Amino acid sequence: MAERNIMTKHERKYDLYRKQYCSRKLKDSENILEVEDLRVSFDTYAGEVKAVRGVTFHVKKSEILAIVGESGCGKTVTSQTLMKLNPMPPARIISGDIIIDGWDIVKMPEPAMQTIRGNLISMVFQDPMTYLNPTKTVGKQIGEALMVHGKATRKNVYEKVIDILNLVKMPEPERRYRQFPHEFSGGMRQRVIIAIALACSPKILIADEPTTALDVTIQAQILSLIKELREKTGTACILITHDLGVVANMADRVAVMYAGKIIETGTSDEIFYNPKHPYTWGLLESRPRPDHKKTERLMSIEGTPPDLFAPPQYCAFADRCEYAMKICREREPVNTALSPTHQCSCWLLHPDAPGVERRSGSSFALKTSDAGSVTKQASKPEASGTSQEERRGAGGVNSGKK
Ligand SMILES: Nc1ncnc2c1ncn2[C@@H]1O[C@H](COP(=O)(O)OP(=O)(O)OP(=O)(O)O)[C@@H](O)[C@H]1O
Ligand code: SF4
Ligand SMILES: [Mg+2]
Repeated sequence: MAERNIMTKHERKYDLYRKQYCSRKLKDSENILEVEDLRVSFDTYAGEVKAVRGVTFHVKKSEILAIVGESGCGKTVTSQTLMKLNPMPPARIISGDIIIDGWDIVKMPEPAMQTIRGNLISMVFQDPMTYLNPTKTVGKQIGEALMVHGKATRKNVYEKVIDILNLVKMPEPERRYRQFPHEFSGGMRQRVIIAIALACSPKILIADEPTTALDVTIQAQILSLIKELREKTGTACILITHDLGVVANMADRVAVMYAGKIIETGTSDEIFYNPKHPYTWGLLESRPRPDHKKTERLMSIEGTPPDLFAPPQYCAFADRCEYAMKICREREPVNTALSPTHQCSCWLLHPDAPGVERRSGSSFALKTSDAGSVTKQASKPEASGTSQEERRGAGGVNSGKK
């Protein structure tokens, strides 16, 4: 007698779409996600908002990558595009590639996306209350997430939900199972959201400002929970925040975004101890430090990011950068590899650029007092693929923090 097909409806669809859309090879088998030159725009009545302007990055299996940057720099649009959560239209993927564990996300239609959301990639949002149904118990909501993806049956759903509540360290899970979202504190609600996001054992979890709405103590608890869950489950994580302080003890690597581009990326050590981009310096200086004196003012980066309706064809940070040279207002800086893991897009890394020093404290200073000579010296734009050694030899940038 033929064997009965015990696949659920969801599993059958998943299998069908897997055959159609899951055949792309990742460049590096250690990666779970590779994004190549991604461009996303919004078509509005006022014109095209170029929100993401050629972003390339990867996430390794079980890694935590932090994406940091000021408000409006494109962190959320980038991460939501990985799950195709931006409403299209008005959003539009102009070009680029997104490969998650072999799945070709850019090519996938909405029904196919529905089968991988939660399963392959999942998201935790800033405000948990917006994503919880106030009329259903927490247990029921987690159970539904499990059953939709065929991870539990009516018979075993209760045990599975309790397991997940235990995983996110929910006290008294049996009692909490029967409670409604309004009976939970903010931190507990965020645990519920994390529980739902992890219910189907995704390979990547995106956490978009997961602790912004929480007080400092609860913030620390949620962050350490995410870190612990990564260790227990092996789920890779993209942590999005505007606060570099948050990522210091969390992230393996950091990508710094500005005006829709990644302008510097490196391991946490490289970004915290050897940053090279003036914008990264600014972010680091504007975070409170334990040795900060009460009388000392926190530094802020003067000015505002450029209008993404008409972003400049040159360095987008030029109008706010104390080091801006002539070339900075003429051409986009090229991406320079400083180590196998550290890359930065800034003309200061050109071999002909003057050596500048990042002054530790509230501001930056040029090593040379003659800003005019900076403009003159650095106006050769042919910098591309130069090695760190070559730059050192040429008296490249000194961040002052080795
Ligand atoms: N629906 C939309 N229509 C038009 N423009 C949009 C839309 N959503 C986002 N944008 C624009 O895209 C750009 C990037 O926005 P995004 O939300 O990704 O910023 P962010 O880095 O996440 O900022 P924040 O830290 O404030 O969350 C912004 O200029 C924003 O105005
Ligand atoms: S390219 Fe020029 S303007 Fe842009 S960050 Fe570097 S020094 Fe500043
Ligand atoms: Mg955002």
